[in-house]
Amino acid sequence: MRHLNSLLDMSPAEVETIFETSHELKARSLKGDRPPILKGLILTQLFEKPSLRTRLSFDSAMMQLGGNSLFLTALEAGIGGRESVKDVARVVGGYSDVITLRTFSQRLIDNFIEFSGKPIINGLSDERHPCQALTDVFTMRETFGDVKGQKIAFIGDGNNVANSLAIAAALSGVAMSVCAPEGYRLEEDFLKKLKKKFPSSNVTQTDDFKTALKDASVVYTDVWTSMGQEAEESQRRNVFGPFQVNAKLMKMAPKSARFMHCLPAKRGLEVTDDIIDGPQSIAFEQAENRMHLAKGLILWVLEKTVK
Ligand code: CP
Ligand code: NVA
Repeated sequence: MRHLNSLLDMSPAEVETIFETSHELKARSLKGDRPPILKGLILTQLFEKPSLRTRLSFDSAMMQLGGNSLFLTALEAGIGGRESVKDVARVVGGYSDVITLRTFSQRLIDNFIEFSGKPIINGLSDERHPCQALTDVFTMRETFGDVKGQKIAFIGDGNNVANSLAIAAALSGVAMSVCAPEGYRLEEDFLKKLKKKFPSSNVTQTDDFKTALKDASVVYTDVWTSMGQEAEESQRRNVFGPFQVNAKLMKMAPKSARFMHCLPAKRGLEVTDDIIDGPQSIAFEQAENRMHLAKGLILWVLEKTVK
């Protein structure tokens, strides 16, 4: 059975299949052609954290393909309180054809893979955000054509988004430079694993803006304080203050560079209005693509093809 848990489990060929399906369904959908490939199927979304894009992109992807989706907060589901994780996973699996989860701990997603008996899609955990990272490379392909040899400058926290983006980049032959203060970078153990799986990957870390932004085709940032880290917010604002993506920083990248952000953005903190709303920004195309990518992803985990 297929799951999307970590992008480290995927091959470039599998990612290519998801991109091709998403691309075809996007083109058809924009012309009003929405084949009901998922008629009668149910996606259940079970979330521990808030969401706009992930929840709605999977809902709309499912509905545009003729399927249905159900939503439940983890609190309503009673996970770990009213009922054991194992029992909830088995019950949800019995009602659903595919399940998306958004969690604090990665372990909860791993448990669902073990006990639900259905394909699981990681819709963000403290560690990872694979649907986002696939969408990001998909958006880069639309913007630049071939992405091999391109470079992402990731300015900010080495968080869940940076983690999955580094793998998606490695899967696609894209280099990535993470520009973050010490103590807030990707873990060395993770980088070792990445290198072992993809020996030709090129993910580096620095706190030097010039090094990170040199030859970058994408300048990417995310919030300084992720969901679950609210107690550290004021400390993080201090640490990340110099890492704001603003006009001065963008000038250090090539003129042709595009700005990307997974959203939600804290305007005036990690990015200024003139950049996220400016001509270099593709952040909102990126957001829309979450839905197109979700279609390719759902079909891939369900082992279905477009007819
Ligand atoms: N980018 C993203 O995952 O957005 P949401 O948190 O709104 O789902
Ligand atoms: N790093 C952010 C991403 C939100 C989509 C968070 O985890 O809150």
